[in-house]
Amino acid sequence: MTASDYLYRASSDVPYFSSDADTYLARTPLRELTKTRKLRVLSEEDFTFWQTYGYIVVKQAIPADSAQKLLDFAWDFQGLDPERPETWYEEREYRSDLDRELHIYGFVEAYQHQLIWDSRQAQRVYDAFVDLWDCEELWVTLDRLNLNPPNVRTRDRALIPTTERGFDIKLHWDIDSTLGVLPQRVQGIIALNDTKPDHGGFQCNPELFRRFDRWKVDQPADRDPIRPTFDSDELPVVRPDLEAGDLLLWNGALAHGVAPNVSGSGVRAVQYLSMMPALESHEELRRSRVASWRDLTTPEWNKTLLGDAGRHESLRYGRAELSDLGAKLLGLKSWSGRPFDEQAADSAGA
Ligand SMILES: [Fe+2]
Repeated sequence: MTASDYLYRASSDVPYFSSDADTYLARTPLRELTKTRKLRVLSEEDFTFWQTYGYIVVKQAIPADSAQKLLDFAWDFQGLDPERPETWYEEREYRSDLDRELHIYGFVEAYQHQLIWDSRQAQRVYDAFVDLWDCEELWVTLDRLNLNPPNVRTRDRALIPTTERGFDIKLHWDIDSTLGVLPQRVQGIIALNDTKPDHGGFQCNPELFRRFDRWKVDQPADRDPIRPTFDSDELPVVRPDLEAGDLLLWNGALAHGVAPNVSGSGVRAVQYLSMMPALESHEELRRSRVASWRDLTTPEWNKTLLGDAGRHESLRYGRAELSDLGAKLLGLKSWSGRPFDEQAADSAGA
């Protein structure tokens, strides 16, 4: 067994286990979970919809003007002028194929700005995740923004070679859907502007989620674990409408993706943000999370996080201020109320 296989138990009474604070093993899958805590943000109907179709939209999880500030920041961080589309497509050097793909998809390499943290520590955002996991001891993902102008010229998706199998930006699962016991994962985005149909953006297959257990029985043994094939008349792909400030949450077992932006001059913009049961006993991970916030280093939980090539965020602004909730969601403060160095001393037998 390697260190990365070790399963840590999350700091919650509901039993969740994970090696990486990304995917979790649970006694009961989220889609079958019976609530023990009162719903905070979702209505009973919302919760049933979430369990049936694998996603839900929480209206105005952050105020629309906070979303607008984040959108302004996303433009500014990248040195792009929202009024001058020619600035959106300037040629630049890429560090790798991945770097170029991330640029085409519109990722913004900022992770620790105060505005980004303001969404993470917004009470209504947190409460929505408490509803889904049925526990309060959560950590927030240290993730980035996305600002996707029309996918033409230097941002044309045709520049990325297509593959027959595996990850497909248009539709995929975030987990291996062929496993006997599906890992549990929740992902989320906050819309920074109102969606329009031709702006592309989040799309998913809710009917495939609903009928998954029956659907998989008829599939070939060697089916693609993360790219679904299906009849779109029977199992249609939908694109939920979002307004600035809305939070869309989805289950890792929901096939989803990002449609290209085919508009003339509109942009699709979101903040990626999720929360999952806190792995406070994973000391190495906890320390790296705290260091990322403290020193504005690029988070390490996902290999696709690169940091800005031109001028790294650590050179641009200072450390974000955290509320008590924010400090717990980072792993700076323990949900138990006890300092971490005391807990470490206990487990060392001191
Ligand atoms: Fe995904």
